[in-house]
Amino acid sequence: MNPIELIDKLEQDHILGHSDFLRLLSGNLLPDEALYLKQRAREVTDRTFGRKVRIRGLIEITNVCRNNCLYCGLRKDNRILKRYTLTDDEILGCCKTGHDMGFRTFVLQGGENPAITAEKVTNLVSAIHDRYPDSAITLSLGEWDDYSLKMFRDAGATRYLLRHETINPAHYSRLHPDEMSRDNRLRCLDTLKQLGYQTGTGIIVGSPFQTLDNIAEDLLFMRDLKPEMIGIGPFLPHSLTPFSSYRAGDLDLTLRIISILRLMFPHANIPSTTALATLHENGRCLGLLAGANVVMPNLSPPDMRNQYSLYDNKAAFGAESAEGLKALSSQLAKNNLYITTEKGDYSDV
Ligand code: 5AD
Ligand code: SF4
Repeated sequence: MNPIELIDKLEQDHILGHSDFLRLLSGNLLPDEALYLKQRAREVTDRTFGRKVRIRGLIEITNVCRNNCLYCGLRKDNRILKRYTLTDDEILGCCKTGHDMGFRTFVLQGGENPAITAEKVTNLVSAIHDRYPDSAITLSLGEWDDYSLKMFRDAGATRYLLRHETINPAHYSRLHPDEMSRDNRLRCLDTLKQLGYQTGTGIIVGSPFQTLDNIAEDLLFMRDLKPEMIGIGPFLPHSLTPFSSYRAGDLDLTLRIISILRLMFPHANIPSTTALATLHENGRCLGLLAGANVVMPNLSPPDMRNQYSLYDNKAAFGAESAEGLKALSSQLAKNNLYITTEKGDYSDV
C-alpha cells in the first residue's frame, strides 16, 4: 500500500500495524502525502466538532514535586527553582475568574507535592464542584493509590490527565530515575478507566533517546487503552535538568502524530498544547489544523506562572493566557476556528 492508501485505511479502521505506523511517522512522506494526512485528520475533526475549539482553564496549583523526571524543570533536584503552592482560596479565586470568563472546565495541574494530601484534594474538588456544578473538574496531579483516585471521583472530578510518557520500559527508565515505575503509572491509568474517569494520556514527542519505533508502540498502547483525551507536545529542554543540551522535538513530527491520533480516535479531546505553542509562534493553530480540538489557556495567578517551568521559555501569557482569550479568538478566527464555552465532555459530540 502507498501512504495515501495507508491514511485511508487508518481513517476507516482507526488502527494500523506497527510497520505501517512507522511509514507514516517517518519524515519520508511526500509533501502531498503529508498534506493529505493533515487534511483527513482535520476533516474528521470537523465532522465531530465542527470548527469549534473547546477551552479548558489550566490552574497550576503547585510546582513542588517529589519526583525527578529527567526532562522536567519541576524535578526535585532543581534546587534553584522557587517553589509555590496555591492556597484553596487562591485556587477558588482562579476558578471564579475563569467561570466569569466563560470557562466550564477547570484543570488542576501540579507536581506530586507530599503536602497536598488526598484529603486536601478531595475537599478542594468538593468545594469547586459545589460552587460550579455546571463545570467539569479535571485533575492532573500525578500518581495516587486507587483509594485516593476513587475519593476524587466521588467528590466530583470526572476527568484525569496522566501521560504515560513512553510505553517502552527501556526508554521509560532512561527518562526517569529508578524510584519511578512505568507499571505504577499504567496501574493508575487502568484504575482511572475503571472508576469511570474520562482518562487522558500521551507522550512527549522527541524526548531524548526516543525512536520512531517507540512512538509506534505508544500508538498501539493507546489503541488498547482507549483514552478519552490525548496530550501530545514536543520535548523542550530545560536548562536546569540533565537534558538541558538535548534538541527540542520536531514540529512536523508532532503535528503528524496529532493527525494520526485524530484518525485513530475521532471523538477524543486532543489539545493543541502549550509546548507546541512554545516551539512555534503559530503552533497553537497548527495543532488545531492538524486535528486537535482543545486549547488550555492559563488561569494561574500571573505572578506564579514563570515558576511553573516544565521547560525553558514556556508560553503562559498573551494568547496562552485566560486574559488573552480575545487575542486567541482572533488568531483562531483567521483559520475559521471559534472558541466554544461548552463543557465538552467526551460524549458531547
Ligand atoms: N518538554 C515537554 N514536555 C514536558 N513535560 C514535562 N517536562 C517537559 C519538557 N521538558 C510534560 C510531561 C508531563 C506534562 C505535564 O508536561 O509530559 O506529563
Ligand atoms: Fe514532577 Fe510531573 Fe515534572 Fe515529573 S513531569 S518531575 S512528576 S511535575
